[in-house]
Amino acid sequence: MPAAGRGERLGLGPAKALRPLGGVPMLVLAVRALAEARGVDVVVVAAPPDDRAEVQALLSAYDIGTEVVIVSGGATRQESVRRALAALPPEVEIVLVHDAARPLAPSELADAVVQAVRDGYDAVVPALPVADTIKRVDEAGRVLETLPREQLRAVQTPQGFRRQLLADAHAAAPPADPTLTDDAGLVERIGVAVHVVPGHPEGLKVTRPIDVVFAEALLARRWARHAP
Ligand code: CTP
Ligand code: MG
Repeated sequence: MPAAGRGERLGLGPAKALRPLGGVPMLVLAVRALAEARGVDVVVVAAPPDDRAEVQALLSAYDIGTEVVIVSGGATRQESVRRALAALPPEVEIVLVHDAARPLAPSELADAVVQAVRDGYDAVVPALPVADTIKRVDEAGRVLETLPREQLRAVQTPQGFRRQLLADAHAAAPPADPTLTDDAGLVERIGVAVHVVPGHPEGLKVTRPIDVVFAEALLARRWARHAP
């Protein structure tokens, strides 16, 4: 779980993963949901290097119930994932990479991705159709192209991989290519097919302040349903 980002688009404040949603740190929500997935035996968190102790204390306090390993994240998401991969126990064969910034992704989504890998797909991403029309534009704001929407998907995490494939893809990747914004992208680069499964509307990434409003509304609805 890459969780080492600052959250610059969210504005000033603590590292994004430590910011609360409905009073609970995003990282805790994200780790808890992932740990609840049937196929998940261990969660490796790439924490903000300066906040490692706080992350450790938080995850102990919330009593996750699944083995959690904490490593220091890197300067880029890719580097954070690479460091987390290096800390995986040797017996692990299937890996999910899941953003701490998607704390509401349900554990069923993780299970569906793991199942697709077990069914024989070496790289699996959850994705949703896009609602907006997407255009390519140049720096001057001139439209270059309107992309056919039926073919477009907004890709989420958790993304699932055969462990060796993901390790190979990371080993082959250039150190910091800003166009490589997900792990499946690294796999595509080395010519391996990536399979798409249905994403989940609650798998949204908390990126901008308005996403916090939406995520907290979703959480309030969820908690109201589960109230005694
Ligand atoms: N991430 C990471 N290490 C980094 C940068 C990002 O582990 N050096 C993680 C984030 O913590 C997040 C995920 O990658 O869980 C997706 O990144 P993003 O949503 O871009 O988060 P931030 O990089 O924190 O946000 P921003 O780009 O607005 O600063
Ligand atoms: Mg970022």
